[in-house]
Amino acid sequence: MTAPIQIQEQPNGVTRRKFIKGVIAAGAAVSASSYLFRGPEQLFGQGSLPGSVERLMTLTVNGQQRRVDVMKQETLAMTLRYKLGLTGTKLGCDRSECGACTVLIDDVPHYSCSVLTHTVRNKKVVTIEGLESPDGKLHPVQQAVVDEQGFQCAFCMSGFMMATVGFLKANPNPTREELAHGISGNLCRCADYNKILNAMMRGAENMRRA
Ligand code: FES
Ligand code: FES
Repeated sequence: MTAPIQIQEQPNGVTRRKFIKGVIAAGAAVSASSYLFRGPEQLFGQGSLPGSVERLMTLTVNGQQRRVDVMKQETLAMTLRYKLGLTGTKLGCDRSECGACTVLIDDVPHYSCSVLTHTVRNKKVVTIEGLESPDGKLHPVQQAVVDEQGFQCAFCMSGFMMATVGFLKANPNPTREELAHGISGNLCRCADYNKILNAMMRGAENMRRA
């Protein structure tokens, strides 16, 4: 018969089991405190730990200041869709391949699935919901999509529109080839690229007229 394993008492009186219990208890206390002391606008009594990132932040999205609690590893796509309810930004691959999640950050198109939300403090984010004017008038690129009926299932549509709007800010009068190259980071599972390009070219024309 095997003898039971004995836990050796250390010279200072701390057993291995007591030590592990202490570490777990300390970790739980630290992680719980950040919730217990959190108020609606600020943390009370518990400052951020050295090297940690303050979770509560203000995002500028579609011209509005939005207060939101963001985990340090959270992507902008997740924040936009699941914290702010801006579900027009789609998640396709979630790894920088399809462009469905494209938004503008300081007027430049980015894959929001691959941008950490904490890196866009003090920057302006525009999503598909922010394209139309306050009076409800569609953006020229949105109007072109309506007129040309350029998409089939339209899952990729908001990403294509955001990529096009961003591209047209830098090159307002592109050839078809230039625009195709400019938005080539966006993929369409329905592979309706000709119709999409028709709509985006019409959007460019609408923008020049506006
Ligand atoms: S979901 Fe971001 S690139 Fe595909
Ligand atoms: S229209 Fe279906 S994915 Fe593009």
